[in-house]
Amino acid sequence: MASGIFISFEGIDGAGKSTHIEGLAQAFQAQGRAVTLTREPGGTPLAEKLRTLVLNDAMDAMTEALLVFAARRDHLQQVIEPALARDEVVLCDRFTDATFAYQGGGRGFNLEVLTFLEQLVQTVKWPQGNVVRQPDLTIWFDLAPDIAAQRLAGARVPDKFEAQPITFFARVRAGYQARFDAAQPRFARIAAEQTREAVWLDVLTSVQQRGWLA
Ligand code: TYD
Repeated sequence: MASGIFISFEGIDGAGKSTHIEGLAQAFQAQGRAVTLTREPGGTPLAEKLRTLVLNDAMDAMTEALLVFAARRDHLQQVIEPALARDEVVLCDRFTDATFAYQGGGRGFNLEVLTFLEQLVQTVKWPQGNVVRQPDLTIWFDLAPDIAAQRLAGARVPDKFEAQPITFFARVRAGYQARFDAAQPRFARIAAEQTREAVWLDVLTSVQQRGWLA
């Protein structure tokens, strides 16, 4: 079995995960671990092409879901599984929880179909049998949508999702909450309205508690 560590980072747009992903990469590297820093949708040449489509082109929720899972399949096979097999730490900016939150919660797409696609796409074949790949830890930067909107305002030209109204992000947040409720041991929920320093301490603690960083 792979002995690497797979950590995903989640939250609504504007929750402020980026700097902490970078910080965690440096913390692991400082302790001698090889780190693969990647993102979804994306992480491979093909998946980055799909990302451009998903973030910029209008499409229905099913098309969106199929494209993000297609990107995920390529990403898992080309990048994530090989890195875990090399015993690396994989830090992934968003993973399948984002699909349940955005396409499921935000856009209202059928959660049973998403669950089926999750099983199909994330099944990894091992000599010992098949497993459905999931992150070992998901760090959820939880923030009220109105605060996230204030943070995003004027920061940059919004993409298709960032341009959505606050009501959309309230549904996305509820989507994350449902994933959290269904798989709490996998999650560290971070109160993202705190200062950046306090958020960083919570991020670090969540990883240290699992014994992955000194
Ligand atoms: P994001 O991760 O916020 O990157 P950046 O910091 O460059 O803006 O952007 C990715 C967007 O894609 C985000 O709005 C959420 C959306 N998304 C989905 O809708 N479904 C998915 O499955 C994933 C992974 C992302």
